[in-house]
Amino acid sequence: MPESYSVMDMGYADYGGAAPHHGAHHMPGGRSVTALTADPDRTADVAVNLIARKQRFRLPTGRSVDGYTLNGTSPGPVIHATAGQLVQVTLVNESVPDGITLHWHGLDVPNAMDGVAGVTQDAVGVGKSFTYRFVADQVGTFWYHSHQVSHEQVRRGLLGALVVAPASGPRPGTVDVVALLHLYGGARTVNGREGDVRVQARPGERVRVRVVNTENGQTPVWVGGSPFRLVAVDGTDLHEPAPVRDTAVLLTAGGRADLEVTMPADGSAVRVHIGGPGGVVLGSRTYDAPAVRRPTKTLDLLAYGRPAPLGFDPEAASRRFDYDIGRRPGFLDGRPGIWWTVNGHMFPDVPMFVVAEGDVVRMRVSNNSGETHPMHLHGHHAVVLSRDGVRATGSPWWVDSLEVGNGETYEIAFVADNPGVWMDHCHNLPHAAEGLVAHLMYE
Ligand code: C2O
Ligand code: CU
Repeated sequence: MPESYSVMDMGYADYGGAAPHHGAHHMPGGRSVTALTADPDRTADVAVNLIARKQRFRLPTGRSVDGYTLNGTSPGPVIHATAGQLVQVTLVNESVPDGITLHWHGLDVPNAMDGVAGVTQDAVGVGKSFTYRFVADQVGTFWYHSHQVSHEQVRRGLLGALVVAPASGPRPGTVDVVALLHLYGGARTVNGREGDVRVQARPGERVRVRVVNTENGQTPVWVGGSPFRLVAVDGTDLHEPAPVRDTAVLLTAGGRADLEVTMPADGSAVRVHIGGPGGVVLGSRTYDAPAVRRPTKTLDLLAYGRPAPLGFDPEAASRRFDYDIGRRPGFLDGRPGIWWTVNGHMFPDVPMFVVAEGDVVRMRVSNNSGETHPMHLHGHHAVVLSRDGVRATGSPWWVDSLEVGNGETYEIAFVADNPGVWMDHCHNLPHAAEGLVAHLMYE
């Protein structure tokens, strides 16, 4: 172990040359594809260059701060792809001192493309570049962000949204909106702006609002002026979600929630609240949608929508793990403190969860640490089976980001179908820097 070993660079040997995975890949709902890493001769369908800069920029509040931009803005550009397309993103580090990477949060890309500094690649230093290539197979709402000193670099702006449309193209008659929530220096912004994002939508038109929570904490989302349906969570469609009203959706840190609204026939505007009075206002003639208070009722995803086949049998699990989150005094990188633990162990001494390709994995995630933790598993989507012993009865609820409250226990299951070394960490990013990190590794 090198002396400079740090939780930030994870202290791994150089995995930079890890070979991309070329295997069959099972997706949520039993979909199956091959060769997510396209052959090197294939021309990219979507090619994007992202130039990262350290830059002083003006906050919506008018104050200027030192931040990081991608192509001069933060958030960076929304990357749009269609299922099956080869996405190629060349990341250039012009001036971010600690080096950078890009992680495709929620997209189950091959391990070598996962963008975890110190695990799947080295951080891209100033003056260097790295090209990511992967086939965007999952349809849905995702985001990208740097995974080097991420608690600092994400906060300072190295992030953006990524949307994958179905191969059949976007649903006709639907207005499609991305609403990325981020906090800059205390200012709550949607798509980089403070205040409302206004979107034109005619009476009777359907609108899909893709809310991305890049914050470190859970955020309530609710709708004033119309019922809505929660149609997708973490990029996966829910099965037969019913319309609800006066109900808040609690959006996990790092998670995504796609809400669908049908515009009122009388031409009135609709307000999608994201964490507070502001958010997205949908309207035609007028954007005059009054703010409404946060509803007291919250949507329980364990019982929302209707059951559908999972594509695998969680009762036939070949591996069972506990992921028990706690806290105790000790040393992390030589610093004394009270640090997070996984199964009683402190980073980096947390044993890996070892699986073999094809395993059905069940994991019991419990939290007795005194705080809530939005847990994020890389490279896989897990289905939620139960919370505190209460079994899921609604639509399959697939997650890559799951809020585990203090005192709660979730049972989740997934298929180990994406070989590599994958992080499973808290997405309250300062907590990850404080050691709330474990890994899944294929034998
Ligand atoms: Cu969105 Cu490991 O992160
Ligand atoms: Cu946490």
